[in-house]
Amino acid sequence: MSHKTVKRVLLDRDAIREKVAELGAQISRDYAGEKLLLICVLKGAVVFLADLMRAITVPVEIDFMAVSSYGAATESSGIVRILKDLDCSIDNKHCLIVEDIIDSGLTLKYLKENLLARKPASLRIVTLLDKPERRQVDIAPDYCGFQIPDEFVVGYGLDFSEQYRSLPDICVLGE
Ligand code: IMP
Ligand code: MG
Repeated sequence: MSHKTVKRVLLDRDAIREKVAELGAQISRDYAGEKLLLICVLKGAVVFLADLMRAITVPVEIDFMAVSSYGAATESSGIVRILKDLDCSIDNKHCLIVEDIIDSGLTLKYLKENLLARKPASLRIVTLLDKPERRQVDIAPDYCGFQIPDEFVVGYGLDFSEQYRSLPDICVLGE
């Protein structure tokens, strides 16, 4: 494994906290009077989920999915494998996929189609980060924290080869 160091902070913990509060308020307004199932995509979105769920005021349940795409460490291949499926049925439930970052969009496109086939009452996507420049397929989040440039970031749940997930800020990884 090549040695990489954190180059600079892109989004600090205060900016993240403020944005997560905004997203939570917006989601709470949009789902007023409903119950919501948050579907967290492991592992990167775990930190975001933990903060976001506490910023949402409508009743929520949580469930987890783990997917992996074959290919190099920093590139998605488009071939998606379900490593861990949901515990519960989503039939007739209002569902919100919680993602850390949308890059090529391949993972999310697959996930969205897979979940829609299970007939939820509704299905939306919230992502903390979006790299729109990198998109290979036509998919857009319903809620987005920050659009960021095409740089590899770590921290706040995001990893490089399983490292750096525990950094409180979102940082750009250098050589
Ligand atoms: P996509 O299928 O190309 O959209 O890939 C999405 C997944 O790739 C994310 O859920 C992350 O796990 C990973 N990923 C993409 N960009 C980054 C990054 O800058 N840092 C860390 N993980 C990333
Ligand atoms: Mg991920």
